Amino acid sequence: MKKLVISTGGGDAPGLNAVIYAVVNAAHSRGWEVYGSRSGYLGLLDPEQLVPLTPAVVADITPTGGTILGSTNKGNPFAMPVRNLAGDYQIHDVSDRIMKNFQRMGFYCHIAVGGDGSLEIAHRFAKEKGMPVVGVPKTIDNDLQATQRTFGFDTAVSTATEALDKLHSTAKSHDRVMVVEVMGRDSGWIALNSGISGGADVILIPEIPFDIQSVCEKISDNELHDKHYAIVVVAEGARAANHEVVTQGTGEVGRAEALLGGIGLWVANMIRTCTEKDTRSLVLGHLQRGGTPTTFDRLLALRFGAAAVRLAEAGEFDHMVALATPDMVAVPLEQAIKSRKKVPLSSDKIMTAREIGICLGE
Ligand code: F6P
Repeated sequence: MKKLVISTGGGDAPGLNAVIYAVVNAAHSRGWEVYGSRSGYLGLLDPEQLVPLTPAVVADITPTGGTILGSTNKGNPFAMPVRNLAGDYQIHDVSDRIMKNFQRMGFYCHIAVGGDGSLEIAHRFAKEKGMPVVGVPKTIDNDLQATQRTFGFDTAVSTATEALDKLHSTAKSHDRVMVVEVMGRDSGWIALNSGISGGADVILIPEIPFDIQSVCEKISDNELHDKHYAIVVVAEGARAANHEVVTQGTGEVGRAEALLGGIGLWVANMIRTCTEKDTRSLVLGHLQRGGTPTTFDRLLALRFGAAAVRLAEAGEFDHMVALATPDMVAVPLEQAIKSRKKVPLSSDKIMTAREIGICLGE
């Protein structure tokens, strides 16, 4: 009987539990066992944090948000922050301990569900320690080049679109400008998809450094056409031309990436100054990561989970499952982590936005 271990790493995304459900059931139908590693690699570091996962345990988790295993974006086993007795953090490489536990437990394969950070760690384990790994791509940002879609994205876009729909009536009632900051790191997918669908007047994405003057002109132009309110969607990674990306610093021990955020408020202040219109800003933040996955995300996550077990069965390790519609394919992890997927400036979505009168800050 083969034993699999599954972990969920990085920021959570709606659909993680659906992957777990599919992996457990697809493995069970082959007569295999599955264990879950809590908080990324913690279960492999401390076997008390390994949970046996049976079809009964995961029976009703598919529609639920988050991950039943917990997740972390501060748990890189090759550079793990460990607190010493004096209360200071020291960085330790615990990858050998993890590999020993993996072998001691008799695991056949590790199914690592994560974004580019977690998949990079999975690839290091495969390459440097010989761990048989299969990756499953996850992120609300949809910024992994090797797959057409990641699960979580559709849910995040739906949440953001619903928020924009709701903001129209209050913006209109008060003749206000509402500036909404959405997630997505260095890619504008969430902003663009939700902004077009949610009737935004302005969409600012990282791929197009913006000119605040053209944003203000668009809002003033609205007035000439008897529209006295505006909705502005700003991706957290967007920046004005000749300005840096706005961040909250790294802040947290063990976190590899800077925490983005603050550009929405900056844009709102600039708009208020140049148009003299009442302007409010809000940050949608982690609302975009919560809630039940959409049907699209559930189905994609279930397909990823089942495909990951197929790869494990075929011994196709150090690969990630990916969507190449209508198929599921295997992509080498090394290739999958190489580059992030940006919004192509020649894409139909960009053309659509321009043609329906949305200002992209150009
Ligand atoms: O990568 C997913 C994501 O939600 C990004 O869009 C965002 O920048 C980041 O994670 C937020 O991370 P945290 O949950 O650590 O605040």
